[in-house]
Amino acid sequence: MLSGLKRLEYRGYDSAGVALVTPAGDLETAKKAGKLSALTDELAANPLPNAQTGIGHTRWATHGGPTDLNAHPHLADGGKLALIHNGIIENFAQLKRDLTADGVEFQSETDTEVAAAQLAKNFQSTGDLTQAMRVTATQLEGAFTLLAVHADAPGQVVAARRNSPLVIGLGEGENFLGSDVAAFIDYTRTAVEIGQDQVVTITPDSVVITDNDGNEVDGVEYQVDWDAAAAEKGGFPSFMDKEIHDQPQAVADTLLGRLDIDGKLTLDEMHIDETVLKTIDKIIVIACGTAAYAGQVAKYAIEHWCRVPVEVELAHEFRYRDPVVNEKTLVVAISQSGETMDTTMAVRHARQQGAKVIAICNTFGSTIPRESDAALYTHAGPEIAVASTKAFLSQVVACYLLGLYLAQLRGNKFRDEITTILEELQTIPEKVQSILDNGKQQVQALAQRNQDVGSVLFLGRHVGFPVAMEGALKLKELAYIHAEGFAAGELKHGPIALIDDGQLVIIVVPSKRGRDSLHAKVISNIQEVRARGANTVVIAEEGDEEVREFASEVIYVPQTTTLMAPLLTTVPLQIFAMELATAKGLDVDQPRNLAKSVTVE
Ligand code: G6P
Repeated sequence: MLSGLKRLEYRGYDSAGVALVTPAGDLETAKKAGKLSALTDELAANPLPNAQTGIGHTRWATHGGPTDLNAHPHLADGGKLALIHNGIIENFAQLKRDLTADGVEFQSETDTEVAAAQLAKNFQSTGDLTQAMRVTATQLEGAFTLLAVHADAPGQVVAARRNSPLVIGLGEGENFLGSDVAAFIDYTRTAVEIGQDQVVTITPDSVVITDNDGNEVDGVEYQVDWDAAAAEKGGFPSFMDKEIHDQPQAVADTLLGRLDIDGKLTLDEMHIDETVLKTIDKIIVIACGTAAYAGQVAKYAIEHWCRVPVEVELAHEFRYRDPVVNEKTLVVAISQSGETMDTTMAVRHARQQGAKVIAICNTFGSTIPRESDAALYTHAGPEIAVASTKAFLSQVVACYLLGLYLAQLRGNKFRDEITTILEELQTIPEKVQSILDNGKQQVQALAQRNQDVGSVLFLGRHVGFPVAMEGALKLKELAYIHAEGFAAGELKHGPIALIDDGQLVIIVVPSKRGRDSLHAKVISNIQEVRARGANTVVIAEEGDEEVREFASEVIYVPQTTTLMAPLLTTVPLQIFAMELATAKGLDVDQPRNLAKSVTVE
């Protein structure tokens, strides 16, 4: 079980715990604040008895700080029932008052312990753990995945899900439940999706899924298209390092099978009627974090190719204002995990308003693609490091494929250029590879020299602007350094006041051959900060000698078109953040306070 938890640790890593039910019907638990290694050490010192049924959890705290006591599993029924939970139970305060009035005493501050006590109460009245879970699920408000075992039901694990991820793994003489398939990939690649508001009971040789009324339902079975080796570090010091090096493959795989021999683009997953796609008059991209920056890059390309206005909005902001969305709106939801709660809620909201939703997602069978009208999968393989790298590049590629597909369909003036654009896109994997082969050491040395900086500013124009913001985000996430990405043209309207002697400024310079005058404008912006004492590091394309004069250091990337440039210029920024964090001795795969897939709002 610890190996499964290890594979899920990226989802939350402030405490961990397990509960086992022995064949004799004893329930044993161990839990520890801190990373999974703390629990592993604890279990090595004080092993639990052998058991074939159990649950385990790795936590990202919502209610109650990361302490031993607040770690999951939580116990009820005199220590005979153990429960783990992802999500937030919104009516936990009311339930806690009622249970307290019934005489239940609580040990922790968590909403999870309330769910455990509620389940215990229902078990006492029904005598059946599955039925008790069903009743409990209807009494809880909010988002949750719950898993429980009971000493009086050895051999059974019962689970319920609403708005939080849960997937079944089918083994031989053994079955599994996990927040994602990584949990059981060492044992089986056959998985089953569990729908919304369903309850599942597994034993070593049976899996039964039921709805709220107890009717049996069929889950959708699928094969996971990657294996355990894909979720290993593969000789790299960190998952992040490995995933940065996976990027040429991730881009190539995302392009694979989507072009026919005549260079025509076919998106098999596009289950939205062509007539609808021809008449849409607006695209709204919704996403969070790095995925939102991928959307911002895509805006430039899609508007240019399709002549349709594209808005990019953070999913949590979109959801709670009153966005103008209707049947003529195409909403593009970008999410690596497919489970981000903010994005899921925004998808639902968009569909309620009549919009068609296409998901761009890296996780097959996850909630967001399942709830969308169509899904375009990125084929980046599992991304384990919390800060996103290869998912970003493949999201940009998938958005570009979508933009080109729409341009092709809508027959506008860029249709003739599509083949040329696709040809350029196909050169990207080898160009990314050349940055990794030739540029990594230079960026590493730069990062090491700058490990004590207190703040870094990133500047870019046009598609370089979201790249600058993504570069800043990586640095914040990994190295805990204050960093901001600005539109280079905006600098003079305020942020230039920040520039002081020695301030490190990293500037993403567009191609000289690209859009008229963009290059010259950025050169002027570099001069503006340099004149005020900034230490300027420039990311520019090979052959751009002009920038040398204004830069303390130039990092060259291969030449490409303006719109493809983010697929290259982002890479040195990822490496910079990773190497700087490594130089500071930080854990680049699991930065403090973060979780990879945030399944709470
Ligand atoms: C979390 C992660 C970010 C990620 C964001 C969106 O905040 O720490 O790295 O970009 O979620 O995740 P998604 O899975 O929806 O792309």
